[in-house]
Amino acid sequence: MSRKPIYFDYNATTPVHPEVVEIMNQYFLKNYGNAGSVHQFGLNAHDALDYARNISANFIKAKPIEIIFTSGGSESNNMALQGVLYKQKELHPNTRPHLIIDTIEHPAVWETANFLEKEGFEVTRLPVDHEGFVNPQAVEEAIKPNTALISVMYANNEIGTINPIKKIGEIAHKHNVWFHTDAVQAFTKVPIYVKSENIDLLSVSAHKFYGPKGVGLLYVHNDPDAHKNESTASHYLRPLMYGGSQEFSMRPATENVPGIVGMAKAIEIANSDLIKENSRLIKLRDYLIKHILEEIPNSKLNGPMTNRLPNNVNICFEGIFAYDLMVELDNVGIAASVGAACHAEETKPSRVLLGIGRSNAEAENSIRLSLGRETTQENIDVLLDFLHRYIAIHANY
Ligand SMILES: Cc1ncc(COP(=O)(O)O)c(C=O)c1O
Repeated sequence: MSRKPIYFDYNATTPVHPEVVEIMNQYFLKNYGNAGSVHQFGLNAHDALDYARNISANFIKAKPIEIIFTSGGSESNNMALQGVLYKQKELHPNTRPHLIIDTIEHPAVWETANFLEKEGFEVTRLPVDHEGFVNPQAVEEAIKPNTALISVMYANNEIGTINPIKKIGEIAHKHNVWFHTDAVQAFTKVPIYVKSENIDLLSVSAHKFYGPKGVGLLYVHNDPDAHKNESTASHYLRPLMYGGSQEFSMRPATENVPGIVGMAKAIEIANSDLIKENSRLIKLRDYLIKHILEEIPNSKLNGPMTNRLPNNVNICFEGIFAYDLMVELDNVGIAASVGAACHAEETKPSRVLLGIGRSNAEAENSIRLSLGRETTQENIDVLLDFLHRYIAIHANY
């Protein structure tokens, strides 16, 4: 094959931006101190963490003391859900704290909720509509006196649906309930302002926006009345681990300084051309969707046309086993995905697609094509050309 491989799996992960690698290298090779040490090496590392905390906080209009660095989206989600529920139990031992989620959450929320339920907490799983939206009214109706936390993802990782987060947060606050959102897919793809959107906890992962793998953050709303310039995270969350006092005693362990600085650099880069890059992706996304739906018989879009991640396309090709299509695409140097990458080895039909009302067969006929910084119009045309030829031969209507 003479052409370069084409990557259509940016919702799974992204390449690290060269400027991110460059700054990380400085913190691997030169400024490698432990941020807890008091000599110059340590102070340099500590300053780098301050810089990264400021950049991260400013981007979502939060305060630096509201940012806890973690190992990524899964840890942030666990910290939010387990943290709040166990803390409530600690504060009110005779109650059974209640968690509300929806049925198409990422496994990092879904399985954490399953675990919490086994531990004796109460869990409500709200169904979504046929495009993957959570209904704010259903959230309100599910709230009970023992509800401790509502967790609804900002944008879905398989079908790109962007939820009415501000509205759901408003309802949570009206009932004095904390609101968490898994923003791993949405971060840098839609503007997020935690305060005006009524978000108390927000999960982020660097490898989805050209930062390194294994680093992320959890935003935790600070109560300014309790302590002005001090994190109040430990008032609301029980930590997942115990040890040193790093990250406001919420996350013991020597900080991953190169990773954290790399994530901050990736945020700066995203911030510099957010609107331009996302508008470019929306045009490419809509071109791909339009051509598939108009030209390939019996193809259906999974998820909505609007309020959708700028880079996500998920299509059901009737009569085509998506796994085979994915393998054939790979054979010609085109990377796509069925289900979500983190659990793509599973053979079960996607819980997300079943959750929006697709049948088992439709779920098995669905493929995710996600776009990113290096995707060009030419790449899309190569993909469309392959799809036309493959489906003409293999369709089994
Ligand atoms: C919506 C969502 N939440 C959480 C995660 C997990 O993030 P991480 O890979 O950083 O643990 C992912 C990763 O695919 C995701 O898409």
